[in-house]
Amino acid sequence: MKPRLPVFLLGARGLLAGEFLRCLSGHRGLLLAAAATRRAGEALHELHPQLPEGPVTVDEAGLVAGLERALGAGPAALVLGLPHGESAPAWARIQARLGPAAAELFVVDLSADFRLPDAAAYQRTYGQPHPLPGELGAWVYGLPEFDRAALRGARRVAAPGCFATAMQLALLPAAQAGLLDAGKPWVLHAVTGSTGSGAAPQEGTHHPFRDGNLRAYALGGHRHEAEVAARFASPPPLHFLPHSGPFRRGIYLTAALPLAGGITAEEAVAAYAARYAGEPFVRLRRDVAPELRHVTGSNRADLGVSARGGVLQVLVALDNTLKGGAGQALQCLNLMLGFEETDGLPLAGLGW
Ligand SMILES: NC(=O)c1ccc[n+]([C@@H]2O[C@H](COP(=O)([O-])OP(=O)(O)OC[C@H]3O[C@@H](n4cnc5c(N)ncnc54)[C@H](OP(=O)(O)O)[C@@H]3O)[C@@H](O)[C@H]2O)c1
Repeated sequence: MKPRLPVFLLGARGLLAGEFLRCLSGHRGLLLAAAATRRAGEALHELHPQLPEGPVTVDEAGLVAGLERALGAGPAALVLGLPHGESAPAWARIQARLGPAAAELFVVDLSADFRLPDAAAYQRTYGQPHPLPGELGAWVYGLPEFDRAALRGARRVAAPGCFATAMQLALLPAAQAGLLDAGKPWVLHAVTGSTGSGAAPQEGTHHPFRDGNLRAYALGGHRHEAEVAARFASPPPLHFLPHSGPFRRGIYLTAALPLAGGITAEEAVAAYAARYAGEPFVRLRRDVAPELRHVTGSNRADLGVSARGGVLQVLVALDNTLKGGAGQALQCLNLMLGFEETDGLPLAGLGW
């Protein structure tokens, strides 16, 4: 049997790290080589008790030492699971330590640090200069349903944001086919669960405030709009409003997209059916609203498409920690490394 390809993980304590490791444990071609955290020395199953027995975690230096050994023997992959603004500096340190061998590494970044095409867009969106501006644009943006060809064999991939994934799945089929009226707002609203905010407790994720509650936020615009806008030659009329929902996992997005003059509901729905035909992780249904409980725990996005009064209604349900995060990162790695795209990834949701 072929030896499994070693995967290294930085930011082991994170929520997405936990989900990535859960998926990795069922992968046929990949094997966790080392997981690094700022609190090295604990076993992985102590950081993530939902996981079976795992190795003792290392620090960043230990991770680099392992990468050096692995790259001496063959291909290796690295997943960066850090907050935005931490990921690019960490990657700069790792590259400096590895030297020319770094070029051989397959890297997926879960943060926003390499998603935008240039330093000006990053500064505008994240309010700080990019630490590695020369690398922006060299990373492949990893939404497999739209970037599959570029992902095959890629060595640097920026996994999309969770809201950005839902937004693009909702609007790109119609927008790319020229079916939308760019003179009217493209309105997208989404409700997210508390796992979207990461592992560290915050006021917005505190149970007494979150449970039984619903609120909108980022009224002045959300950062993920920039990722979506970067897919277009000129800025689209996006109007996105996120909400914090009283549940843990999942994003439920509702898009109301103005159809261009003369475009019928049939034509619009046909564009989605053509675009997503054969996609392993997208289930499209006409005139049926998806449900979060059908997709949580899976790497699937369920879409419902309908139209009335010249407005295309697209509904998207996905698990932010999987299709919107760690699952999509593994889907990208599978494409980068030539594995089955579905390897290690749950297709079925929990249901209840
Ligand atoms: N949660 C989602 O639904 C989601 C979806 C898509 C993308 N993302 C992005 O993916 C990345 C990981 O998300 P996550 O939800 O797993 O985040 P998280 O739970 O906050 O985990 C991030 C991990 O990064 C490490 N870290 C290193 N330096 C840090 C610092 N200065 N401050 C805080 N943590 C630091 C920590 O691990 P150690 O303690 O082990 O060092 C921490 O647990 C983020 O960039 C996030 O924006 C998240």
